[in-house]
Amino acid sequence: MSTSAAAANSTAPTLAIPRTLRGQKALVTGANSGIGRAVAIALGEAGADVMVNYVTGDEAAEEVVAAIRAYGVNASAYKADVSSEEQVAGMFRETIARFGTLDILVNNAGLQRDSSFQAMTLAQWHTVLNVNLTGQFLCAQQAIREFLRRGVVPEVSCAAGKIICMSSVHQEIPWAGHANYATSKGGIKLLMESMAQEMAPHRIRINAIAPGAIRTPINTSAWSTPEAYKSLMTLVPYGRIGEPEDIARAAVWLASDLSDYVVGTTLFVDGGMTLYPGFATGG
Ligand code: BGC
Repeated sequence: MSTSAAAANSTAPTLAIPRTLRGQKALVTGANSGIGRAVAIALGEAGADVMVNYVTGDEAAEEVVAAIRAYGVNASAYKADVSSEEQVAGMFRETIARFGTLDILVNNAGLQRDSSFQAMTLAQWHTVLNVNLTGQFLCAQQAIREFLRRGVVPEVSCAAGKIICMSSVHQEIPWAGHANYATSKGGIKLLMESMAQEMAPHRIRINAIAPGAIRTPINTSAWSTPEAYKSLMTLVPYGRIGEPEDIARAAVWLASDLSDYVVGTTLFVDGGMTLYPGFATGG
């Protein structure tokens, strides 16, 4: 990391997470790296048992499982492609068999296949839409079936289940060179809101988090050199890159009863990226 990036990062907090999810069962998709990894570990720290979904990288998944178990809760890894209906069904069967039920789904798995619009292949389009959007549909459907079957267990949570959809600032901000990705995130917004409206009467709470620029492998080129970091900061009023833990703390809160009346909302965790930073000096 460059000195300037390290200095800017020194202001990111490290806080202990309260055990607000004691006894709850969670599944996090795409949980062996980046935001998903931090969320899975934070849910474990908050007291939940966690199923760590991943699609490649067995070792990294096992490392996340070990980090979660260190908090004295259960954790396992399950390899499944979230865009495959059959693999998703198998993963939920296994999770429910192992944990008894499910209380929290974090629909996190996502990827980028960037290209200029004129050169974008149908395969790049489909890969991104299938994983980022259809994957969230398939996992949410399985989770909701279990939440409806079980209903509210007051000793565990006020809600019959919680889903957090990982969106992006690009559900709002158009993104040249990333039409497939921005389309998938715009889709997540209305998928989340439609599911939330339909499921709220069943006491199922569905919300989204829209991260800005977070230091993860998906966007290394945006922060790994001093020049890139400086240019990124022109888009971030708060003046530092986001850390995966910034998202993890928001996810723990949205999954817990502390946010019980929060239904169908997108929580932007972006250091102000969606505040039209160019207008701080222009306009
Ligand atoms: C993307 C990152 C990007 C960030 C802010 C995220 O959704 O995955 O690559 O840095 O948005 O533009």
